[in-house]
Amino acid sequence: MIGRLNHVAIAVPDLDAAVAQYRDALGARVGAPQDEPDHGVTVVFIELPNTKIELLHPLGEASPIQGFLDKNPSGGIHHVCYEVDDILAARDHLQAQGARVLGSGEPKIGAHGKPVLFLHPKDFNGCLVELEQV
Ligand code: CO
Repeated sequence: MIGRLNHVAIAVPDLDAAVAQYRDALGARVGAPQDEPDHGVTVVFIELPNTKIELLHPLGEASPIQGFLDKNPSGGIHHVCYEVDDILAARDHLQAQGARVLGSGEPKIGAHGKPVLFLHPKDFNGCLVELEQV
């Protein structure tokens, strides 16, 4: 059911420092910061030949990233994102398998303007999983 790895998201305490590191030390193609108020994050996408890295930094008061950074002050891998062809069919299949979908269970529009859902990390080996319909 799942397709390509769309991105790996890394929560970072200092977005400017992380951008400079990926651009200058790692020589990666780094995009412009985008504020995503609906998700409480500022994101920067880094294009790699086979996938993307999503740098996440808290935006606003109730950012879900802030709690993660409080527990992981130097940052860390926050989620992986897999592509699916049909997000509602994927959701229904996973729920039938006992997996929990976070939030209302309805897809939100993600950072690429496409529908996304998040799956409970406790159901996926401690890893928060994002599904994106492509
Ligand atoms: Co993501």
